[in-house]
Amino acid sequence: MSIHSIKPAQLNALATDLNATFQTLQNEQLNLDITRGKPSPEQVSLSDKLDGILGNDFLSKTGEDTRNYGNLRGLQEVREIGSSILKTPETQVFAGGNSSLSLMHMVAMLQHSYGTKTAQPWQSLDTPTFICPVPGYDRHFSVCQTLNINMITVPMLATGPDMDAVEKLIQENDQIVGMWCVPRFSNPTGCTYNDATVTRIAKLGTIAKPYFRIFWDNAYAVHSLSDDAPVLSSVWDECVKYGTEDIIWQFASTSKATFAGAGVAWTASSTDNLAAFEKLLGITTIGADKVNQLRHARLLPDMAALSAHMQFHAEILKPKFDIVFTALENELSEYGSWTHTDGGYFISFDANHGLASEIIALAAQAGLKLTPAGATYPYGEDPEDRNIRIAPSFPSEEELRKAMQIFTVCVKLATIRQAIDQAS
Ligand SMILES: Cc1ncc(COP(=O)(O)O)c(C=O)c1O
Repeated sequence: MSIHSIKPAQLNALATDLNATFQTLQNEQLNLDITRGKPSPEQVSLSDKLDGILGNDFLSKTGEDTRNYGNLRGLQEVREIGSSILKTPETQVFAGGNSSLSLMHMVAMLQHSYGTKTAQPWQSLDTPTFICPVPGYDRHFSVCQTLNINMITVPMLATGPDMDAVEKLIQENDQIVGMWCVPRFSNPTGCTYNDATVTRIAKLGTIAKPYFRIFWDNAYAVHSLSDDAPVLSSVWDECVKYGTEDIIWQFASTSKATFAGAGVAWTASSTDNLAAFEKLLGITTIGADKVNQLRHARLLPDMAALSAHMQFHAEILKPKFDIVFTALENELSEYGSWTHTDGGYFISFDANHGLASEIIALAAQAGLKLTPAGATYPYGEDPEDRNIRIAPSFPSEEELRKAMQIFTVCVKLATIRQAIDQAS
């Protein structure tokens, strides 16, 4: 039954029931949080062997003493893992410290302030502008905002960004300097770009200005929850096919595989781009934490080891995603829509137009913290005030069940109140 077909008297009765349930939940004085995609304590514990794994053997595969300075590009064995994750030759991969986000910020600064061999600095343009598929990742938008880079949105489809819209923007607007992409298990919709989208993205280099760059943030490259999760093709191979290697900067990290605060991160790009990056990197550091890189190489020496490790993560995460999907399907099929995902860290829920802020405020009153309304849009402004990102990884299953009870009650209450207002 659609909400719109419910008679006013029934709406009022529903609101009374929901208010009572809401009050009961409020009285429980809960303190729950499903805001950020943080791995749970059980997940980080899967990598506790990192501590002590070196057993006093600090030499890398190539005989490097990892305790000492040097090697800006990172240990070869760690670059090899990055190469497998990103499906890009090891010669094109750098291994860094614990954060891929800081690599993204540094690359954005490089392109913005200094430029690279084939790209003038973005700051030499009037209005450097990024394409942002929405809903998307708030920290990407913050990188643009700190550099004063304008942001234009395109819709995120089940196949990836709306490529018709992307190609049109690039053809019509010479101020477009880049685009954000989270190509596998996108944050927050969970979609994986299909092969046709990856090819069209690689081909953008044939129509865009030479300073155009894709920020390919493959944060969830190996984070599937089921064996038949969609597979992402190699954007590097596609770029090589079209001679567009300079447009692509790829990123990944072990943040959601080992220790979120103490992992390793990678970037991969063309030879010319990496040369420019190395020069800038060399000003900021004499080298990353190679001891930690070596720990990671010993724990996860190859893709087989990484896949087995990610399987343990999936065993912890899958039941949590199932709790969310079950609550949504059982309670909210008439009250909103959401995306299904086979991996990653998020579920993206769309409420009725104009209700996200209200739902989030109600949830806060009942002790549940949700990601702020608008966070999944540039400048924190969701034009329809509909999107809410759900991050189920951190709470226990019991806490998550409670959180979803609060969430579903708040969505229903806000929707029914809106329907009452509209009917009056
Ligand atoms: C899409 C995306 N990229 C990057 C990050 C952060 O990565 P890192 O910990 O490597 O800086 C996150 C964290 O949630 C993310 O969702």
